[in-house]
Amino acid sequence: MILRRFFSSSFRLVSSSSSSSSSKLGGGCHRDGFRAVSSMPEPCQSSPLSDDESCDFDWDSLGFGLMPTDYMYIMKCSKDGKFERGQMSRYGNIELSPSAGVLNYGQGLFEGLKAYRKRDGGFRLFRPDQNALRMMTGAERMCMPSPSIEQFVDAVKQITIANRRWVPPLGKGSLYIRPLLIGTGPVLGLAPAPEYTFLIYASPVRNYFKEGSAPLNLYVENEFVRASRGGTGGVKTISNYAPVLKAITRAKSRGFSDVLYLDSVNKRDLEEVSSCNIFLVKGNVISTPATNGTILPGVTRKSIIEIARDRGYEVEERAINMEELFDAHEVFCTGTAVGVAPVGSITCMDRRIEYQTGADTTCQELYSTLVGIQTGTIEDKMGWTVEIS
Ligand SMILES: Cc1ncc(COP(=O)(O)O)c(C=O)c1O
Repeated sequence: MILRRFFSSSFRLVSSSSSSSSSKLGGGCHRDGFRAVSSMPEPCQSSPLSDDESCDFDWDSLGFGLMPTDYMYIMKCSKDGKFERGQMSRYGNIELSPSAGVLNYGQGLFEGLKAYRKRDGGFRLFRPDQNALRMMTGAERMCMPSPSIEQFVDAVKQITIANRRWVPPLGKGSLYIRPLLIGTGPVLGLAPAPEYTFLIYASPVRNYFKEGSAPLNLYVENEFVRASRGGTGGVKTISNYAPVLKAITRAKSRGFSDVLYLDSVNKRDLEEVSSCNIFLVKGNVISTPATNGTILPGVTRKSIIEIARDRGYEVEERAINMEELFDAHEVFCTGTAVGVAPVGSITCMDRRIEYQTGADTTCQELYSTLVGIQTGTIEDKMGWTVEIS
């Protein structure tokens, strides 16, 4: 009954292709990184409790791969553009109409934020309201309705509690939370979808790059661009990401960690890296490309700018010519997934430039401050963290 009322014909939950017939619902943690899912995931009326309080998973083996957790959150939008009360369901595959807006025209947004385990029990989120706001801005650009800040943050809290046994121990990683807003209603001609779904799933993660915390080696891309003026580079639409896979794959095959993109008009000014923002350090001055519609305004970027100013650095948000890479003392990247990652080298026009890394760098100072605030070892004077007990 609940299932019939909750899931419309264009969107319903189906059995996971990876489900095991011998598995019980909500089976425990599996050391190989996979868990069983139900053959027909059931929505729950309220935030469910995890079956166990903790996992015996080998947290030291954690990377940034998907490890399905127990529950996902789903909230559908009615025809009048209002989101109904969301519900928690067992994690599982979803079924979409072949003509869903997201499948045919890429009408979708995603977000990424993390939950950290607190030393004294409970969990902490970092600036979830900022992700909610960014989703609202993106939804406006992509002609979609979006959940309110309150609905977004409440859903993120619920998904954290429901999957709490998957939040790694302090110092061993975090629970990466992935909200999606997608056009699930059917369309044939190019138009906004008639129906939308807000969905959140989560996965425990540790280091984003295979380098771990070792410095990154970036490649300046001068063939492919990530975004252009008037486009969607400034919002987190899913359609920004597949086009850079070719550049990333090529750079990785040449031994680089990731790609640094240039502006699409002159191929001269720095933009950002595939999934993070970039900062240059020269003495007491920290510079980062201004967000002018082609660069994603990162929550970590914004936070690092505030932390750096608070610590006495001069921070400039402006156009940065790639020639400035040759004068910088340090370079680092910021993002929810990557944290604050030091850059050891950048290869630009076949020249490799090396940067200072390690202890006593600005990058290290800002990184420790940010992580301290996120995990609670440093007092959160800015009121950025949201506690869940
Ligand atoms: C293209 C891009 N730039 C920057 C970022 C960093 O944003 P945030 O700090 O909000 O994670 C991300 C990650 O979301 C991204 O995908």
